[in-house]
Amino acid sequence: MFIRPAEADDEKLLWAMLYEASYAHENGMDSPDQLRDVPTLAHYVEGWGAAGDLGVVGGFDGVPLGAAWLRLFDAEDPAYGYVDADTPELAIGVAPESRGTGLGTALMSALLDAASEKYDAVSLSVRQENPALRLYQRLGFVEVAGSAKANPAGTTSVTMVLRFH
Ligand SMILES: CC(C)(COP(=O)(O)OP(=O)(O)OC[C@H]1O[C@@H](n2cnc3c(N)ncnc32)[C@H](O)[C@@H]1OP(=O)(O)O)[C@@H](O)C(=O)NCCC(=O)NCCS
Repeated sequence: MFIRPAEADDEKLLWAMLYEASYAHENGMDSPDQLRDVPTLAHYVEGWGAAGDLGVVGGFDGVPLGAAWLRLFDAEDPAYGYVDADTPELAIGVAPESRGTGLGTALMSALLDAASEKYDAVSLSVRQENPALRLYQRLGFVEVAGSAKANPAGTTSVTMVLRFH
């Protein structure tokens, strides 16, 4: 397994992993390219490499199979797990055939290590029934009280925050 920092030219991989993270297939999208036309999802990746962006890429045998990344949003264009303009929001996706291999945990650990040197806290949005919620709890994320809201897929998502300081 390898984990390395995400570079500006990893944007294509991040679109592919956003496709996984957002359950785009379930929502009727056939390719990551379609995400570019959905502003509430596209803003997680569009223009990757902006100030404040931080990410890691990982995989096996030199092949990238997952990514975790975060970026800052603001109140005028908040993402699903928006808390405030100083708290970046994290997204993570691992290719379906590589899930359950420990890659997601390794990506989270590496990204959170890097984030703790730059930010006071990190947020994310997750569906209540997503098994990833347990992973986030294990890493110290706690649910923001009152954050449960219906998402476009008709399920409920919650915002979680991990405070470093
Ligand atoms: C969530 C995800 C990034 C974790 O990556 P992973 O490589 O499977 O992670 P690990 O092998 O380190 O396992 C960690 C946790 O991931 C979840 N997980 C494991 N295999 C999974 C699978 N096939 N499908 C969904 N979640 C899985 C579990 O919660 C697991 O913890 P647990 O064993 O205590 O239940 C990955 O499963 C994924 O891309 N899922 C679909 C997209 C998604 O849900 N993204 C997060 C949106 S908030």
